[in-house]
Amino acid sequence: MKKFLSTLAVSALLASGAAKAAELEVVHWWTSGGEAAAVAEFAKAFDAVGHKWVDGAIAGGGGTNAIPAVVSRLLGGDPMGATQFNHGRQTEDLIQEGLFLDLTELAEKEGWRDFVFPSSLLDACTYDGKLYCVPVNIHSWQWIWLSNPAFAKAGISVPSNWDEFVAAAPKLREAGIAPLAVGSQAWQSTGMITEVLAVAIAGPDAWSKVNVDKDAGVAGGAAYAKVFEAAANARALAADISVTDWNLATAAVITGQAGGQIMGDWAQGEFAVAEQVAGEDYSCLPGLGVNPVLSLGGDAFYFPKNKDADMTAAQLELASLMISKEVQVSFNLKKGSLPIRGDIDLSSANDCMNKGLGLLADGQILPGGNMALSRDTIGQIEDLMVQFWNDSSMSATDAQAKYASIIASAD
Ligand code: BGC
Repeated sequence: MKKFLSTLAVSALLASGAAKAAELEVVHWWTSGGEAAAVAEFAKAFDAVGHKWVDGAIAGGGGTNAIPAVVSRLLGGDPMGATQFNHGRQTEDLIQEGLFLDLTELAEKEGWRDFVFPSSLLDACTYDGKLYCVPVNIHSWQWIWLSNPAFAKAGISVPSNWDEFVAAAPKLREAGIAPLAVGSQAWQSTGMITEVLAVAIAGPDAWSKVNVDKDAGVAGGAAYAKVFEAAANARALAADISVTDWNLATAAVITGQAGGQIMGDWAQGEFAVAEQVAGEDYSCLPGLGVNPVLSLGGDAFYFPKNKDADMTAAQLELASLMISKEVQVSFNLKKGSLPIRGDIDLSSANDCMNKGLGLLADGQILPGGNMALSRDTIGQIEDLMVQFWNDSSMSATDAQAKYASIIASAD
């Protein structure tokens, strides 16, 4: 049995201040253009204080490859210095195994509860009263991204809601434009249907009943039947373009090959790298223009326990940097996400980020799916959605019935 640093040792490290230079392997899944630009801000800040960021990127959007690889390394006793997860319930089993450093003392010393906004982001990092992660952003799934030139080419105005988007599809097709771009990885169709279409079409209350209360009656009921009909419709609208990665679907919107993409606001990082301007080159509709809302999912870093005090001190320093004002601004502007601090000025935020900030200020928020459902339940839903998405003979009714039965036994 390996000996890890005790809580007492963490206190001593916090009291002693600056850490000796250390190399820290940081695992994440940020490999698209916008993502890489954003994570470089973390690396730059960490290297600037004398440490060395050893980049452990694992390609595959949404953590498709990184999450299973990290879980197996951690359970196999091969910890990295730090690792990304989506904050919420993804790490419950790993926390129970005692694999992560407890950040409670650091957070108390730096007063994280006083400035993290909304504070539910810290709750998503808390297990049994102890804090195990540093949230670094708010990434909402609740958006559609639209190519302004694509609609201009089709001779129609940019839609202002989902129904107008659906109605515009034939004109887009006449102009040789694919209506909807969706990548083939399971998490993409799953997020689109169970997060975005569900909130836009069944509404935030029905979404909460299904995801938070695990109400299978609502999942199998009339409001959700409309969600699955819309999903079958989206499946047909997405048939003209075939890509795997989410950022290739975003690229199709950027180049005007596709009219739109339903995707989280990490897509903004790609528009930024392509030097496109929100409101001019592209448009964004939170809640598909139907139920504007921001979901509070996002990313967080966890710090696996290790046997080396210098390494632990460097881990705490990285956690502290990631949540600092300067790094929150530089990272989130590149990432397209919203900062997790309520006390910073984001004057350079673009149109779409400002819409997100407005929803946050108005309290139009929902938890992210990863905050409500366990990793196992999400895995089951992804298996179903990928089957539904890839097999046009699977009806909306059939998919809904299977979904409701997963919710019935969800935890
Ligand atoms: C993460 C984003 C990331 C996206 C695509 C999501 O799970 O929260 O930060 O950009 O996956 O890779």
